[in-house]
Amino acid sequence: MRNILIIGGSRGIGNSILKHQLNLGNYCNNISRSSLEINNENYKEYQVDILKDELPEIDFIDSLVYCPGSITLKPFLQLKEEDFKKDFEINVLGAVKSIQKYLNTLKKGSNPSIVLFSTVAVAKGMAFHSSISSAKAAIEGITKSLAAEFAPTIRVNCIAPTITKTDLAKNILRNEKIEENISNSHPLKKICEPDDIAATANFLISKESNKITGQILRVDSGMSTLKI
Ligand SMILES: NC(=O)c1ccc[n+]([C@@H]2O[C@H](COP(=O)([O-])OP(=O)(O)OC[C@H]3O[C@@H](n4cnc5c(N)ncnc54)[C@H](OP(=O)(O)O)[C@@H]3O)[C@@H](O)[C@H]2O)c1
Repeated sequence: MRNILIIGGSRGIGNSILKHQLNLGNYCNNISRSSLEINNENYKEYQVDILKDELPEIDFIDSLVYCPGSITLKPFLQLKEEDFKKDFEINVLGAVKSIQKYLNTLKKGSNPSIVLFSTVAVAKGMAFHSSISSAKAAIEGITKSLAAEFAPTIRVNCIAPTITKTDLAKNILRNEKIEENISNSHPLKKICEPDDIAATANFLISKESNKITGQILRVDSGMSTLKI
């Protein structure tokens, strides 16, 4: 049985990872502000705001997945310094705080690994994404730096999704027509479901990926790399 810590397991991609890991029989700790009604002896949750509260002590962690993020889309001149700071705080500093807190526990784990989240808008320039893409570019940088620093013990990888049907994206995917247009703008003519992204995270925390570290996996229906 593996011990998985999901920060942001209550909703979206993190919740999909959580359900899969529980189905595998692994032990899951979830840190999020809201509570889940899960009655499973392999599940423990902590209602914590990653930016405000002290993080709980957790004795065993083999993999840490950091899911909290944001989508702030505004024309550059409408972005305030505060917008950039907020995006940096939840996407980068929350991940830094989590990794610093649990690093020593992770080092003692079995095939230990960390999974972080970027966005398609780092590899592909997209209008109105300057705040979120700069925060997520920092995540891609920290992924590679920590993968080097923590080798050979802890693997560190990052997933860069395209738009995915979660609460975070609901203001963008606000009706069927918009969803269809966005879907058609992807080479694979599909946007992602949470399970599509979670599948890559589940791979990255499994022993099957034990030779993969320092990578940014672009799970984006071809958006960042293909022109067709
Ligand atoms: N969805 C997309 O279209 C998309 C596209 C590109 C990249 N991404 C990235 O993929 C990652 C996961 O996205 P998602 O769509 O699954 O997000 P989501 O639906 O907003 O879920 C985020 C999770 O993080 C938790 N969380 C948020 N703020 C928190 C805080 N201050 N303290 C503790 N927990 C907090 C939330 O739980 P509570 O609210 O209960 O605290 C929730 O469980 C993010 O990093 C996002 O930037 C997503």
